[in-house]
Amino acid sequence: MEQTVERKKRIFSGMQPSGELTLGNYLGALKNWIKLQDEYDCMYSIMNMHAITVRQDPAELRKRSLEVLMQYIACGIDPEKSILYFQSHVSAHAELAWILSCNTQMGELSRMTQFKDKSKKHADNINAGLFTYPVLMAADILLYQADLVPVGHDQLQHIELTRDVANRFNFHYGETFTVPEPYIGKTGARVMSLQSPENKMSKSDPNPNGYIWLLDPEEVIIKKFKRAVTDSDTEIRAGEDKPGITNLLTIYAAVTGKTVEEAEKEFSGFGYGNFKQAVGEAVAAELTPVREKFAQLQSDKAYVEDIYKKGAETAAKIASKTLRKVYKKVGFVAW
Ligand code: TYM
Repeated sequence: MEQTVERKKRIFSGMQPSGELTLGNYLGALKNWIKLQDEYDCMYSIMNMHAITVRQDPAELRKRSLEVLMQYIACGIDPEKSILYFQSHVSAHAELAWILSCNTQMGELSRMTQFKDKSKKHADNINAGLFTYPVLMAADILLYQADLVPVGHDQLQHIELTRDVANRFNFHYGETFTVPEPYIGKTGARVMSLQSPENKMSKSDPNPNGYIWLLDPEEVIIKKFKRAVTDSDTEIRAGEDKPGITNLLTIYAAVTGKTVEEAEKEFSGFGYGNFKQAVGEAVAAELTPVREKFAQLQSDKAYVEDIYKKGAETAAKIASKTLRKVYKKVGFVAW
């Protein structure tokens, strides 16, 4: 009897090496990436081509890109299970982005909130790459025929655009791309700043007390949580009127795998000081092994190099299959 081997569903995701990775990146994305590794074929890339849409210092970018890769591994991404590589090592990303940009409307791109935010923030450098950023992101995902894209809440609009572009291409040229779904975790998809809990925790925050860096030492983590902005009330509960406390409860829940309701019960009757200390300790306990593993990896450059070179080779093979198919569909002469 003929046996059919079912392909595992594919996952694609990545992070920009445009700053230090934060607890937001970890809880919103990385923690889910780790969880999904056994069930799916996973590809996790370092999006260095996206990072240069904002001016970067070249030496810093190179260093940070390697550090992001090492942080993926230190957090628990297993290079034996998942494909890890740098976006710039697979030229098909840029090639597919061109084709897709001819199938994306200016109006769609001008509605992207990330573009609007970043053009305000970098008013002296509103470059074309910043505008077409979501097209490159669509290419990243569609090249690998990804089924699922695990991201934090802020990336949903980009995934929606990716789906629109894929559907449009499939409609005009015939079935070509898998239309991907976003994967958003139950808790941790929107981690907010510890200093201004109405804003997202971000690696580009100029105030380091607003974010937890994945490699912050234990005492720094606890200190930052102790300084977290809350409110003048005394009650530990989640609610729109309590953004600071809600954020801390969410972080605690996401780190420990509990629900926010369970966290509320656990801390009922606590003072804010002890509550903040407990959340800080839980986060520090989660991140201490990450910091230790990262230090080990830093002294093993050959191992790390081997991972990203092999990763790029495998990724390029998968990508070139899609790209050839796309070239044929749009009418380019075969070579
Ligand atoms: P980036 O580099 O800003 O963030 C990487 C991932 O971390 C998530 N994230 C958060 N989640 C919860 N709370 C926060 N405060 C928080 N901050 C960041 C982001 O949602 C993201 O999942 N455009 C992407 C990078 C990218 C990409 C891709 C992602 C390029 N191509 C293809 C997926 C697939 C970005 O800027 O993420």
